[in-house]
Amino acid sequence: MASEDLTTPKFVKVREDSTGLETIYPAVFTHEDFESARKYKAKDSDVYVCSYPKTGTTWLLTIAWLIVHHGEEFPGNYRDSIPMLEFDGCESTEAIDDSKFPRIIKTHFPYKLVPKNSKAKYLYITRNPKDALVSLYFHIRGFQSEYKCENPDLNKLYELYMKGEVEFGLFFDHLNEWYAHRNDPNVLFLLYEDVKQDPRNEVLKVANFLGGEYEKKLKMDEGKILENILERSSFSHMKGRNVWHKTFRPENEPFIRKGVIGDWKNHLSVEQADGLDRALMEHGKESGISKLWDKYADFL
Ligand code: PPS
Repeated sequence: MASEDLTTPKFVKVREDSTGLETIYPAVFTHEDFESARKYKAKDSDVYVCSYPKTGTTWLLTIAWLIVHHGEEFPGNYRDSIPMLEFDGCESTEAIDDSKFPRIIKTHFPYKLVPKNSKAKYLYITRNPKDALVSLYFHIRGFQSEYKCENPDLNKLYELYMKGEVEFGLFFDHLNEWYAHRNDPNVLFLLYEDVKQDPRNEVLKVANFLGGEYEKKLKMDEGKILENILERSSFSHMKGRNVWHKTFRPENEPFIRKGVIGDWKNHLSVEQADGLDRALMEHGKESGISKLWDKYADFL
């Protein structure tokens, strides 16, 4: 009998029979999770934080939450306040109280699978794929049972990543599909690197997008709420909170890990970095995503 491969993370394809739409989940997610998520109907007041994995989702969720709640943090584990649609499904998402504040929903779904409502708001964040891949590798190292993988191998993950055989498919397809909607009135398109370089500017941009009244409130009282938000969404503050996951992660594999631009240089080979750069050029020449990180050429 062949021995089990414990160095390759496992993923599962999910498919909606009625439409033929499909995507890829981490091995621990189920077809039932997918079916349930697809039943959720977007409400006018919903705020979606959309992204490909490991591109700054939790950071943007925290910023959006703090803006909507005037600087107050979520009380306990963040997932008790913010559902992850594709995993928590329809009922759990509907169970989140939205009578006083808009419901903030996390999703890695590609554009075509996200529930649409012309009045709802959609924030999309992306990050250079080299850092996103390295971040995914460390994510998997901490969640071994979720990926049925005790000892992930970055070289094997790289091969899967380049083929789009990882959760939520090919990075470049996900980004291209959302990028095509970047100018929709209810979509705000953000770069992880911009938030890192100028968090104040990006927080104000998000507040303005969510509603002028939020931006006004942030600036009141000599900008006290804005300062609170900047502090409470800072890397050091977020790293100090133990609210980011419910299942086990070893202490030496923190979920809020490094939070920098360019950590890929410590982990990817020259060939792997070139491969991702080339793929970005190939998949992004026509759409323009190949130019998204030009201003960060010194880091990337
Ligand atoms: S997930 O699991 O897909 O939702 O992960 P996601 O939240 O998208 O990405 C996790 C990476 O974002 C980093 N992070 C931050 N960077 C800078 N500042 C703040 N405040 C912050 N919060 C989270 C986190 O450390 C992961 O990146 P890496 O490179 O692994 O450190």
